[in-house]
Amino acid sequence: MGGRIWTESMVNMKTLIGPFTQILPLRGMPLHGAISDKQLEVIANGGVLIEDGVIVQTGDFASLRAQYPEAQIEEISGEQVLVPGFIDCHTHICFAGSRAKDYSLRIQGKTYMEITKAGGGIWDSVMQTRQAAATVLTSLLLERAERHFAEGVTTIEVKSGYGLDQANELKQLRAIKAASYLTKADLIPTCLAAHLLPRDFSGTAAAYLNQVQHDLLPVIKAEQLASRVDIFIEENAFDTSVSRDYLVAAQAMGFDVTVHADQFSTGGLALAVALGAASADHLEASAEEEISLIKGSDTVAVVLPGASLGLGMQYAPARKLLDAGACLAIASDWNPGSAPMGDLLMQAAVMSAAEKLGTAEVFAGLTFRAAHALRLTDRGTLSAGMLADMQAYPCSDYRDILYFQGKLKPVKVWKNGKLRSDSDQNHLSIDK
Ligand code: NIG
Ligand code: FE
Repeated sequence: MGGRIWTESMVNMKTLIGPFTQILPLRGMPLHGAISDKQLEVIANGGVLIEDGVIVQTGDFASLRAQYPEAQIEEISGEQVLVPGFIDCHTHICFAGSRAKDYSLRIQGKTYMEITKAGGGIWDSVMQTRQAAATVLTSLLLERAERHFAEGVTTIEVKSGYGLDQANELKQLRAIKAASYLTKADLIPTCLAAHLLPRDFSGTAAAYLNQVQHDLLPVIKAEQLASRVDIFIEENAFDTSVSRDYLVAAQAMGFDVTVHADQFSTGGLALAVALGAASADHLEASAEEEISLIKGSDTVAVVLPGASLGLGMQYAPARKLLDAGACLAIASDWNPGSAPMGDLLMQAAVMSAAEKLGTAEVFAGLTFRAAHALRLTDRGTLSAGMLADMQAYPCSDYRDILYFQGKLKPVKVWKNGKLRSDSDQNHLSIDK
């Protein structure tokens, strides 16, 4: 009885979630440049009113309850701090196999480039990923996406780039699409067929990119497997000249472009800015000259502390990029080679101590600025009209989140207003 009536009333039902000890809505903050912690809005005893997965209002819990007496209450007990779900705008989590042997060589002193030149590195993961069945790839990706979601990451960009031929790049992108129906997080796919010149391709880099452009990108478009194209601009990968032609062609086909730039040598950031790329990612090698290019640009500077930690190399100059006016996002780069750890919050917190990034800048980089790197306008802050993608930490002061350098994990994670991860596990007990 009443099934239909129940359904209709549920659709229009408002839910008020709270009270939270503090809410950081991250609204009304600048998209570019340095941010002072004084600009952080902190709502004490806050609530979020949600309807159909979207935020209607964020504010004082008691006032919202009085204003919307019809709203169903989702009560929060104990001390919890609410922030927007994190957006990891750069990962390579669709892969099979392990590169533990690369890592053990690196900590004995071999460099990433030496391992690449000797036939290991990315190519090793290509070999292992090509051997994996599509269903295996989907379940490996799903496992990683679910781990990320439980750690507060509600949107995850995922690159191909371990296929490097028509069939295997499509296998990866279809695996990402399949996983997107199964995971609680939103997955944003990117074609990284230009990760490396495949060792089994007999022509030049230009010929390979030409083939990708003419054979692979049209299928990706037709099947709607990705709307973004990435390239690794580096010695031993692709130079700026062939990269320019490829990226311009991809843009002409309607793809957003992004670049693995300035990881070991410069050139990538300059090209990304010149082409109006959505983002330039890595930037460990960027110096004053490159940093100055970012001024006035809408290309998001994405820094990847996980790669610095995994390779034992310097961080990207995040402080200088912000001071130069960059829109700075922080992503995990989670991949089997340079960044196997995949703990986004831990990486951001550790980098912020070294680079002197304030709490507001770190949270901006993990949320609405990362959304801009993906050109997503419907998420990243807890303001009216945004998707209710949110996470709550078991503490009473938002500063605890970075203070514990990643060991304090969210106890609740919501996607589109629905509580999808709820756990008391993993608590770090906080001595007060
Ligand atoms: O972003 N630098 C290029 N690509 C990845 C690493 C991929 C790998 O080593 O498997 C990165 O660090
Ligand atoms: Fe990467």
